Amino acid sequence: MKDSFDREINYLRVSLTDRCNLRCKYCMPEKGIDKLKHDDILSLEEIYELIEIFVQLGITKIRFTGGEPLIRHGVIDLIERVSKLNGIRELTMTTNGTLIKDNIAGLKNAGLNRLNISLDTLDEKKYKSITGGGNIFSVLEGIEEAQKMRLTPIKINTVLIGGFNDDEIEDFINLTIDNDIEARFIELMPIGEAADFAKDNFISNNEVLKSAKELIALECEDKSSPAVYYKLPNAIGKIGLISPISCKFCKNCNRVRLTSTGKLKLCLHSDREIDLRSALAEGKDVKKIIMESILIKEEEHHLEYEKYIYKNMNQIGG
Ligand code: GTP
Ligand code: 5AD
Ligand code: SF4
Repeated sequence: MKDSFDREINYLRVSLTDRCNLRCKYCMPEKGIDKLKHDDILSLEEIYELIEIFVQLGITKIRFTGGEPLIRHGVIDLIERVSKLNGIRELTMTTNGTLIKDNIAGLKNAGLNRLNISLDTLDEKKYKSITGGGNIFSVLEGIEEAQKMRLTPIKINTVLIGGFNDDEIEDFINLTIDNDIEARFIELMPIGEAADFAKDNFISNNEVLKSAKELIALECEDKSSPAVYYKLPNAIGKIGLISPISCKFCKNCNRVRLTSTGKLKLCLHSDREIDLRSALAEGKDVKKIIMESILIKEEEHHLEYEKYIYKNMNQIGG
């Protein structure tokens, strides 16, 4: 599937729920969110049917996101069914990591290839504060379990937050010396009701390059990856910089999103949504609707001068 800027669209991010067991300050409003009713959320069968159509259209990589995808009941059965679809090359998940331990064997056996895990600090107290009460040890244990199960390379997503974790950049980088992990730093994006937090605490990924001068730039294996990669001399793992603000990666974009309510989102930063759930229920030609929609995918985002994205990140899935 090609869009009108000649970009091959082969990556679908599927948000399984907008709910989360954490409350990261840059993602959800502090007061919490209005819970969607059960009926407003796609059933697992609907998700499967839509994924099946996307795969027939040329999607080869699926990432399950949330909220927190592991709080959705039935996720492992869904992964198992999706993994059997002809054409899937990569089946992955982005998770906060707190629920990995109890699910890891199921995820591996169901056919998940790897995990991206969010972790913004290595300090127990700071973790509690940024996540609104989370337990860092559940995440660290989760990372260990995922390594044992070889769901690798594990990517650790660290959102850079000025005055909060800029003093830990080196600690995250050092994690890559002896571990087959990718430590990725992400620039804060102003999104939804937490947008002001992002504006007040933004720091650029250039800070990472300044604090680790010995990093070696690597040739990018995946041209559509939002991350630019580096490594320390002799390290096993890698460092990734995801810089949606200081260095847009839209020109190589290969992805679209399916929200938990069944809307197709053509860009993380777009407010245009196409209701695939209704189309499916009404027996419309969903394949044709998706193909036509891909042609109106935006060329790039304009976060640098737009106020913010109107939805909260937990509703989009990153
Ligand atoms: P890989 O497949 O392992 O490269 O993962 P990924 O980077 O595609 O997914 P992940 O869920 O780990 O996202 C990492 C960060 O990149 C998150 O902060 C996402 O919000 C951000 N991100 C992912 N896709 C996009 C995108 O299309 N545009 C923007 N601006 N940010 C994105
Ligand atoms: N800016 C940048 N990254 C964000 N994430 C969540 N909210 C934001 C934001 N406002 C990250 C999470 C997770 C990924 C899906 O997106 O930390 O790693
Ligand atoms: Fe939950 Fe991820 Fe949002 Fe944190 S960033 S509240 S872990 S969905």
